[in-house]
Amino acid sequence: MEELDKLRGEIDRLDSQLVRVLEQRLGLVEEVLKIKRREGLPIYHPQREQEVVAKVAELVENKAYEKTIGEIYLEIMKASKRLQSAQLVPFNIVLMGFMGTGKTSIGKYLSQLMEMELVDIDELLVSRMNMSINKIFEIYGEEYFRGLETTAIEEVSQRSNLIISCGGGVVLNPRNIEALRETGRVIWLKAQPETLYQRLQEDDSRPLLKNNLTISYINALLTERWAKYEAAADFTVDTDTSSIEEISKMIIHRLTKD
Ligand code: S3P
Repeated sequence: MEELDKLRGEIDRLDSQLVRVLEQRLGLVEEVLKIKRREGLPIYHPQREQEVVAKVAELVENKAYEKTIGEIYLEIMKASKRLQSAQLVPFNIVLMGFMGTGKTSIGKYLSQLMEMELVDIDELLVSRMNMSINKIFEIYGEEYFRGLETTAIEEVSQRSNLIISCGGGVVLNPRNIEALRETGRVIWLKAQPETLYQRLQEDDSRPLLKNNLTISYINALLTERWAKYEAAADFTVDTDTSSIEEISKMIIHRLTKD
């Protein structure tokens, strides 16, 4: 049909214009990133993103398209962020530390902020086995769980641009650390036994702490693992008194300062 071909031709022409414009836009995003790094400015700026999306909504003349263009813009912002993060952090970000140090919460926050995929090893095992960590320990025992954990870590470590949140016992097998360090920077999230005790009080999802939830038990297990965490870590962040936002900011600063 001649009419259809004509319209398709028009669309092709607009697409080539759009591609040029997108290339220019991404180029500018890279320039902005360079300046931010040079000047030591914060890289991620959720407020600025919201402003851009709001400004774009105002530019839309045909209001019937406002929602759709808003959605497209959100995707453009996300894709730009992914590009920035891949350039800034060309390795996996590995969060390691004792139970209750905030690995999962910080992983979720960083994942949203940096638009990087989060893989939580415990959650992966729960979905693979279709049962809770407690149940895996109860039915198959700890050794079996550790085997599953190592298999998952070895698989996940082969991927890139991830935030990997590990279970607290990841340091017990040197194979895990070797795999994680090959493609990632390992961050040790630290906290005092008293802090961990407070944070873990209402939680019964940790089989190792069932009937063992005391400061002295936490202290003993932490002491036993201390040297292993220390040896595995590229750097350490204390989590006792800082918020998730503050800890995430410290992590990004450390990861991007070289
Ligand atoms: C464990 C920590 C848990 C989970 C399992 C064993 C450990 O993960 O993998 O209960 O040995 O420290 P979290 O640290 O995410 O709670």
